[in-house]
Amino acid sequence: MRTYTNVKDLGNLDEAVKEALEIKKNRFAYKNLGENKTLLMVFFNSSLRTRLSTQKAGMNLGMNTIVLDINQGAWKLETERGVIMDGDKTEHILEAIPVMGSYCDIIGVRAFAQFENKEDDYNEKILNQFIKYSGRPVFSMEAATGHPLQAFADLITIEEYKKKDRPKVVLTWAPHPKALPQAVPNSFADFMNEANVEFVITHPKGYELDEKFVRGAKVEYDQNKALEGADFVYAKNWAAYTDPNYGQILSKDRAWTVSSEKMALTDNGFFMHCLPVRRNMIVTDDVIESPQSIVIPEAANREISAQTVIKRMLESL
Ligand code: CP
Repeated sequence: MRTYTNVKDLGNLDEAVKEALEIKKNRFAYKNLGENKTLLMVFFNSSLRTRLSTQKAGMNLGMNTIVLDINQGAWKLETERGVIMDGDKTEHILEAIPVMGSYCDIIGVRAFAQFENKEDDYNEKILNQFIKYSGRPVFSMEAATGHPLQAFADLITIEEYKKKDRPKVVLTWAPHPKALPQAVPNSFADFMNEANVEFVITHPKGYELDEKFVRGAKVEYDQNKALEGADFVYAKNWAAYTDPNYGQILSKDRAWTVSSEKMALTDNGFFMHCLPVRRNMIVTDDVIESPQSIVIPEAANREISAQTVIKRMLESL
């Protein structure tokens, strides 16, 4: 595997989930695979889970790991070609990327949508430059339009907790005080569309996601209707995708907050969220603290999804 940016990069999804569950049974089985190999994790944005789980995954595989926070201690990077660099940016990304590549064997990149230019965000301007210029296998640790390590961990979690062969999985928009990218819901839809689940998306009008990820999945604008009989409720906020409102907040309606009344509509469904989560905006205290909340095992599976991807990349070196 040379790149990991979307569900297709995993090939057969059932086999990928099986491999992940095997790794989970003995996460040190491949500890010699990464001997004398270096994992570089480059962060343009903050992280708790991705940083720790991916570093742990690399260490489980016997790798050396380096973390670079671009905004804390590295030179400020120019990303545009042709710019006269007489401002505060000291280094161009076109030198920085191949230099980073020269110190490692595999690179993970976190670079969120900036909401300044939809085309740049949806062309994955930063991530794709790493793929093009680093000379190394590159995986997304959440880029502008996708968070495939999260979605893979989500699918592993659904596989572990499902009580039916084909569970009903509902992705619901929920309110948030800040404008958030569509990366998590995009990747979740990308994976659920390939998984053996009944997938429903619910959000207020105006929050339609890119059809490239929705791919004809059912969209139900009535959240209560969508939640009826759900086996898994996956809550997430995102800002508007469609023009002319790209990157904007259209609603903070707390009627969309996942509460115990909402969960009562489900078939004793499980509550999921990628974390970090704003309590009593996205989900109430009682729901996230309930036995039906699986946010902690879901986060723990981030180590397993990362390890499966890095293992495959090591095998392809
Ligand atoms: N879910 C997730 O990616 O968490 P972090 O932003 O803390 O890495």
